[in-house]
Parts: sequence; structure tokens; C-alpha cells
Amino acid sequence: ATFLRILGIETSCDETAASVVVRHADGRGEILSDVVLSQLEEHSAFGGVVPEIAARAHVEALDGLIEEALERADVSLAEIDAVAATSGPGLIGGLLVGLMTGKAIARAAGKPLYAVNHLEGHALTARLTDGLPFPYLMLLVSGGHTQLVLVNGVGEYERWGTTIDDALGEAFDKTAKLLGLPYPGGPAVERTALHGDADRFKLPRPLVGEARLDFSFSGLKTAVRQAATDIAPLDDQDVADICASFQKAISGTLKDRIGRGLARFRDQFSGLDTEPALVVAGGVAANQEIRRTLQALCLEYGFRFVAPPMRLCTDNAAMIAWAGLERMAAELPADPLDVQPRSRWP
Ligand code: KG4
Ligand code: ZN
Repeated sequence: ATFLRILGIETSCDETAASVVVRHADGRGEILSDVVLSQLEEHSAFGGVVPEIAARAHVEALDGLIEEALERADVSLAEIDAVAATSGPGLIGGLLVGLMTGKAIARAAGKPLYAVNHLEGHALTARLTDGLPFPYLMLLVSGGHTQLVLVNGVGEYERWGTTIDDALGEAFDKTAKLLGLPYPGGPAVERTALHGDADRFKLPRPLVGEARLDFSFSGLKTAVRQAATDIAPLDDQDVADICASFQKAISGTLKDRIGRGLARFRDQFSGLDTEPALVVAGGVAANQEIRRTLQALCLEYGFRFVAPPMRLCTDNAAMIAWAGLERMAAELPADPLDVQPRSRWP
């Protein structure tokens, strides 16, 4: 065929998503449909994602979303070349729903199945949106993950750094909860920080100065709790000042950690004839202060800064579909129908 079309399914957390993506003969990707149903409302009363509620919501929504994705793309199941479904890492109930559905469709339609690592989906998105060549660095900052990854090729990833405790989005969410701000915490903290004094509280910047490229954010959360306790009861200005100080500490931490990563990439790939690039992904990439920090870093180190549109930075099925297409194009094998979901899958 001159082009490949694939159906992608994503159910690893609290977004139910289905998408049809095409890969043209010249390697260019095109999203034909991309349907995402967020379960935010189901979970907001609990201040976080409840696995059992998530799994049930996926069951209820997925079939309809797949139909809608096929309809919008104007393709039938007979016309797609393969099915790609997230098989980990994530919440096991949701993974089971998506992977079983993918298997059933693959079996019924007689198409190959690609069981995709959710992180690989995030890692390859910049090739779908920007046609980025290998190798490049990717920073994934979401509610569940904080990783700096060297993306060397399809299936060739090196994790250079990860969090040793909380994910960055998790730190935002926990800090928001502590301060009585709504869930999800990231957008609330960012909004509140706009009116705050970032220099009022000196918050810790764990691991800064260390040669390893890991992250740590739980100490920051503890320090926020301490600061809040010390000055309680908090008025609106106190909360804003804490939020601003919190974001400043995070920016400072990222500057050091990612700066080291960029320097290491430059050393390792000094002979590269393409411009080195840093890609961001994950919900936290929506944060304007964090974006500005990363952008400035890239400028300083001579990197291209690639931020895919927010809709493709957060969880979606187009990235899963695309990861399947990349594997097909690289002639990597499909998965057997007895492939199992993996809640942990580095
Ligand atoms: O990638 P994502 O949508 O989903 C999963 O992690 O599954 O990321 C969600 C995370 C949440 O922790 C949320 O608080 C955070 O991204 N987030 C933000 C912002 N918008 C979302 N964090 C900081 N600033 C934001 N503007
Ligand atoms: Zn994700």
C-alpha cells in the first residue's frame, strides 16, 4: 500500500480515546479523527482518579467513541490496516478494557494488533506533528510521569532521568489540595500564582547540582505544607504567594536538571547534522512559566524547542495510533492476541 491507516485506542488513565491516523508514503502522518472523552467530572469530587470508576467509565464510552472515530475519518473497519491499543503503563482496569477491545476488533476484522506503551506514544508524537528526525530529547511531565528520555529511534529509548518520588503533575495536584484549590491542581495553582509573590517563601530544590538527571518533588510538597502550617490561617494573598513560590522552585529545579540533560545530549551527539531538539509532553507542559523556562534553556543551549499542540501533549489516541504506524513502517512485528496489559512498564 502507498499509505497505512490505523485505529488507535487509549484507556490507560482517565481519558477514553479513539483515533484514526494515516501514514502517507512520504512518512508524513495525518490525523483523520481524534476523539477524547475526559472523565474529569466523575473524579473531581474525589480529588483524584478513582481506578474502579475509571474502568467502568471506559467500558461505557469506548465502543461509541470508536464508532465515532471511524465515522469522522470516513473509514470502515475493513479499510484500516491495523489496530493499536495502549497496553501499559497505567491503571490495570482501564488497560484491560482498551486492550481487550483492540484484540476483539483485530480478531474480527483480521488485522494485526499493536500493543503500545503509552510512554512511547508520548515520545513519538513530535514526529507526527513536526516530522522531527531522530535522535531527540523528550521531557514528559504529567500527573503520572516525570521522565527525561533520549529518543534514538522507534523502539530505541533511553531513560536519562525520572522522578524518585512524586510526578510533577502530582506535586501540583497535592499542593493544590493542601491549599484548598480545586482538582486538577495544575491549572488552579498556575492561575493563583499570577497574583503571588514568588520570593516570599524559599522552597527546596531537591537534587539540584547533582550529576544524575533524576527528579524529586515530594520534599517540595512537604515544605509547602510546613509553610502553610506556619502562617495558618491562610488568606488569599498567602495562598497566591505560596503558589508563586512553588512554581519558582519548580522552574529552578527544571532549569538545573534539564540544562544538564541538554549539555549531555550535546556532548553525546556533537557530530549531528540536524539541530538538536527538546520535546515536551504531558499535561504540565500547559504551564506557561514552565514553558518559558524550557524555552529559555533551549535558546541558551542551542536547541529547538518543540511543543506539540496541547491536545496532543495530554492523553489521546492519535499518539497511540501513530506509535503503531511507526512500528509498522519500521517493519517491527505486531503483537500476538494473548499479549497482556502491564500496569508497570518502564
Ligand atoms: O498528561 P495529563 O493530562 O494526564 C495524565 O497525567 O494522565 O496530565 C495531567 C496533569 C495533572 O497533574 C494536572 O494538574 C497537570 O497535568 N496540569 C498542569 C497544568 N495543566 C495540567 N500542571 C501545571 N500547570 C498547568 N497549567
Ligand atoms: Zn500520558
